[in-house]
Amino acid sequence: MKITKICCIGAGYVGGPTMAVIAQKCPDIKVTVVDLNEARIAAWNDPDTNNIPIYEPGLSDVVAEARGRNLFFSTEVEKAIDEAEMIFISVNTPTKTYGSGKGMAADLKYIELCARQIARVSKSNKIVVEKSTLPVRTAEAIKNILDNTGNGVRFQILSNPEFLAEGTAVQDLLNPDRILIGGDTTEEGQHAINALVDVYANWVDRARILTTNLWSSELSKLTANAFLAQRVSSINALSELCEKTGADVNEVAKAIGMDSRIGPKFLKASVGFGGSCFQKDILNLVYIAKAYGLNEVADYWGQVIIMNDHQKRRFAHKIVTTLYNTVSGKKIAFLGWAFKKDTNDTRESAAIYVADDLINEQAELHVFDPKVGENQILSDLNYLDSRTPEENRKQMTVAENPYEACKGAHAIAVLTEWDEFRNYDWKKIYDNMMKPAFVFDGRNILDAKKLTEIGFVYKGIGS
Ligand code: UDX
Ligand code: ADP
Repeated sequence: MKITKICCIGAGYVGGPTMAVIAQKCPDIKVTVVDLNEARIAAWNDPDTNNIPIYEPGLSDVVAEARGRNLFFSTEVEKAIDEAEMIFISVNTPTKTYGSGKGMAADLKYIELCARQIARVSKSNKIVVEKSTLPVRTAEAIKNILDNTGNGVRFQILSNPEFLAEGTAVQDLLNPDRILIGGDTTEEGQHAINALVDVYANWVDRARILTTNLWSSELSKLTANAFLAQRVSSINALSELCEKTGADVNEVAKAIGMDSRIGPKFLKASVGFGGSCFQKDILNLVYIAKAYGLNEVADYWGQVIIMNDHQKRRFAHKIVTTLYNTVSGKKIAFLGWAFKKDTNDTRESAAIYVADDLINEQAELHVFDPKVGENQILSDLNYLDSRTPEENRKQMTVAENPYEACKGAHAIAVLTEWDEFRNYDWKKIYDNMMKPAFVFDGRNILDAKKLTEIGFVYKGIGS
């Protein structure tokens, strides 16, 4: 089966970049990305591709090349489903905030709504591809809904998890380590798998395209993220020990990373991992393990999150204790709010939790992030529901530039590893701060020696 029309439901951080690259690399396939969110679609259609709703290096060029040729963004969900032979589901699957599985299980209501809509609208056979990160065996639920509520047409479900990391999404999509496609072991299932393999083979070497059964594919995605998050929590756990023993976590990371069995990546100690995937995926893993009565397995992975929460709280606590046990009424500047550099995504960013702790201590926060604005920052804080929006507003100022954020501050906390932070005029920042001027580098990116020479009291992670 040759695919000529693809529909993707969900124009977010996963659906948008993935479909833009598929369209760029497969000019013969018409790719339509649909979303219920009219403002988001309007932004994707903005004549100036610098205004697309997601900031990712290189993405606006890809969109500029393909949009209007074979890449379309639309709110006409049903029309796009009806036309397509292959439908990707890329909607959000947040952790449940209510009812059974609250705080642990993924909320699959958006996935179910999509499945019901696909079933209702489809008048021809379709291949439905899970792109969003999902708990294991979600494909079974989707299949059940499609087969029981459809119009007699046939559906094949594939799992094709996305491994792109934000900030490097375009490069990850263009040169993936691997593409993973899981499907039914039946003949029809294999045809569907082959159809999707052929799409990727337009630019990915076939040797890098792995095919598995559905459940292996679904579980591999959770496992990959759990392993990556575990490395961060492992090095962060060691960072606390380094601070006590006089070891330097950067040196330890380098020393162990040169062991080819361990490898150097994902060993950067930090204020804690964030992002929409790591915590959610581990919670999914923990939830499934518990559901099967595998308590030791659940506890093992749960510890990765416990460590991450500890690391965020520990950072805030260190600021308070270093500033003579009180930050009440003190101005503290935050450099960075995004969960990592080169993205405007703030989901689960460590900055949110550190800010919440410091506001509990009555600190006055002044934040600057190169890509995140005031509305997002306030809405992230308000989402925690720790206090009223008015109270948050009172304690939180969003600065236009870093110098304004740091002016008159008692301390600076670096929450995101944006490259530009290294190149600021640190002497000027120092001159305008309260003394002693503290820097808490939650990403170990600043030049500690240079800052100390200027006069700062520099505190990194794990040294
Ligand atoms: C992750 C996976 O890497 C990706 O494959 C999957 O598709 C989605 O989830 P992402 O969340 O975009 O991607 O970013 P990632 O680069 O994995 O970073 C996650 C968090 O870990 C960030 O907050 C980052 O700052 C932190 N991190 C990462 C560290 O603190 N130290 C490290 O060494 C690496
Ligand atoms: P991700 O990081 O997984 O891409 P996002 O939240 O960035 O998550 O994007 C998911 C998108 O899916 C949102 O823009 C949301 O409006 C959209 N969405 C959710 N449910 C539906 C639906 N039933 N039909 C169309 N779009 C949907």
